[in-house]
Amino acid sequence: MTDATTTIDTALASIKASPKALQVLRDLHQQALAEPAFVSTAQPITSAIDKFVALDPDKCALVYLLLRSSGARFVVEAGTSFGVSTIYLALAVGQNAAAASGAAAALGDSSSSGKVIATENEPTKSAKALTHWRTIGDEVEPWIDLREGDLRETLQSDLPAQIDFVLLDIWTPLALPALSRVHRNLRVGAMVVVDNFVLAAKGYTELQAFLDDPANGFKVTTAPYEGGLLIAVYLGH
Ligand SMILES: C[S@@+](CC[C@H](N)C(=O)[O-])C[C@H]1O[C@@H](n2cnc3c(N)ncnc32)[C@H](O)[C@@H]1O
Repeated sequence: MTDATTTIDTALASIKASPKALQVLRDLHQQALAEPAFVSTAQPITSAIDKFVALDPDKCALVYLLLRSSGARFVVEAGTSFGVSTIYLALAVGQNAAAASGAAAALGDSSSSGKVIATENEPTKSAKALTHWRTIGDEVEPWIDLREGDLRETLQSDLPAQIDFVLLDIWTPLALPALSRVHRNLRVGAMVVVDNFVLAAKGYTELQAFLDDPANGFKVTTAPYEGGLLIAVYLGH
């Protein structure tokens, strides 16, 4: 087995999903890992227009397990690209919603729901993401609300009253604008995960200052995944 295949299979072993969903993820990760590495602060952003720039498989597995362990049902993802990380988010949200609806039904309540708000401003990318989600079908599609356009507009309104989880896998100048738009809707205990927080530290100075300001209610740690994966928890005021 190649290194990439081992990395992917190890990550997929952490996921509860149908054989079809696992195969789609396996294929997409293979294609994504075959691309040259891309860091948004180091290269012209236009050079990534036809690239996955997908979250690494081990980080996707961590994100899925964080969502499952916290029971997250309302999630925001900035950005989506070809929809790889979104698949993990939607699997977890769908499974958490099913678990919550089982528990609620036992108490006579039939109102459990969930949603991944995904954002992508490059139409060719969002079209591909939709195709990938359609291939998997009901396991992920009903849980995704894809907002096409600039996240500074698409995340401006119509957000869940309480957001449980935010994935910031976006060009660094967009990270703080994305977080600012969802900040007031974060529930206490919500997690915010940011990719490449160490590798792209120069691009994240404003986000770091925002997270470090006690007035904004976060505590943070950086997990030693490749490039550094920031995990911030919103503890409120
Ligand atoms: C690192 S990629 C996301 C990868 C994705 N999370 C995955 O794992 O497959 C970042 C994406 O953000 C998109 N993007 C850049 N600026 C944006 C903006 N202003 N609004 C929405 N999306 C944007 C880019 O087109 C790119 O596809």
